[in-house]
Amino acid sequence: MNKIDLNGKTILVTGCPGFIGANLVLRLLKEISAGTVVSLDNMNDYYDPALKEYRLSLVDKAAEMSQVKHVFVKGTLADKALIDKLFDEYKFDVVVNLAAQAGVRYSIDHPDVYIESNLIGFYNILEACRHSYDKVSDSYQGVQHLVYASSSSVYGGNKKVPFSTDDKVDNPVSLYAATKKSNELLAHSYSKLYNIPSTGLRFFTVYGPAGRPDMFYFSATNRLAKGENIKIFNYGNMKRDFTYIDDIVEGVYRVMQGAPEKKNGEDGLPVPPYAVYNIGGGQPENLLDYISVLQEELVRAGVLPDDYDFEAHRELVGMQPGDVPVTYADSEALERDYGFTPKIGIREGLRKFAEWYKDYYIS
Ligand SMILES: NC(=O)c1ccc[n+]([C@@H]2O[C@H](COP(=O)([O-])OP(=O)(O)OC[C@H]3O[C@@H](n4cnc5c(N)ncnc54)[C@H](O)[C@@H]3O)[C@@H](O)[C@H]2O)c1
Repeated sequence: MNKIDLNGKTILVTGCPGFIGANLVLRLLKEISAGTVVSLDNMNDYYDPALKEYRLSLVDKAAEMSQVKHVFVKGTLADKALIDKLFDEYKFDVVVNLAAQAGVRYSIDHPDVYIESNLIGFYNILEACRHSYDKVSDSYQGVQHLVYASSSSVYGGNKKVPFSTDDKVDNPVSLYAATKKSNELLAHSYSKLYNIPSTGLRFFTVYGPAGRPDMFYFSATNRLAKGENIKIFNYGNMKRDFTYIDDIVEGVYRVMQGAPEKKNGEDGLPVPPYAVYNIGGGQPENLLDYISVLQEELVRAGVLPDDYDFEAHRELVGMQPGDVPVTYADSEALERDYGFTPKIGIREGLRKFAEWYKDYYIS
């Protein structure tokens, strides 16, 4: 592992002010001393852009108090000239690519945007990392670590749990998953050919305050707050890893500081400095328990009334096609290499979400 001191570094975070990106940048602005963080996002309207503006306002506020300079650039990963210009101008030491078109269902009606953002966009980042080594000087080493978001969706319909990065993941069941698996393959080839230290992170259902409204806990809250019912698939008989945002940020922050080592194999050629890790709760929760805790916390925070009738608002229904009953992460490798396993439980995490929801939408 090649240790990287982030203090004083120039860091690109794409997908800020997306959910994970904004929280990562907040952490960087708080934690490191000196340096520059450049955030890049196209601020698309896949979900309410007001949430992105809100997160950006938090980042702006944090930047005022930070020793780190923060620059926000509105633009798309798919714009190769823009990406090259940013890499030329800022000479990034560390790159964290979180920008992507997320969502499994959306990819059915909007495939183009997945190809554009997740494949062409990621390719532009890889090319820019590759060419960063053309600019090496006494004061610049080129990109020392590329960290990028993959997804637990690459495990597709795998039956063996917990999901391990040693498992075969050649059977994606959505275009989204296929683009994420492709990112890992593209990163491997670029790591091998150009010796770019890269680490892919397979995130497992990330939730928390100001999260993504397209995700179940958030859309269910919107429905419950309006007095509507929620559907619980497979009669709630599903187990999932839910990972609280602070745990994800901690994981990404640690990984940024430890890049796979560059070394040569017996053939004298570089062994790709390449790694992929799971970041997931590691403690699969029963969906029905997760929803019960969510409802209790929504009552506690004052989003739902005290006499709220849980049973009356949930419809237990059968399995959705394509859904899998149990998914959770084997996080041993992350613990072994970075000394970290997510630890925030659903009670604490959902409490913070419910309190935020009350403040943001109701009071
Ligand atoms: N949240 C989860 O549970 C989860 C799970 C697995 C993987 N991921 C991955 O983690 C990353 C971050 O996810 P998130 O939950 O923060 O999602 P998000 O949608 O909140 O953030 C992604 C951001 O990328 C931006 N973006 C999209 N296409 C872009 C483009 N072409 N150019 C520039 N910006 C673009 C969006 O505007 C958005 O702000 C994504 O790559 C996602 O696929 C997330």
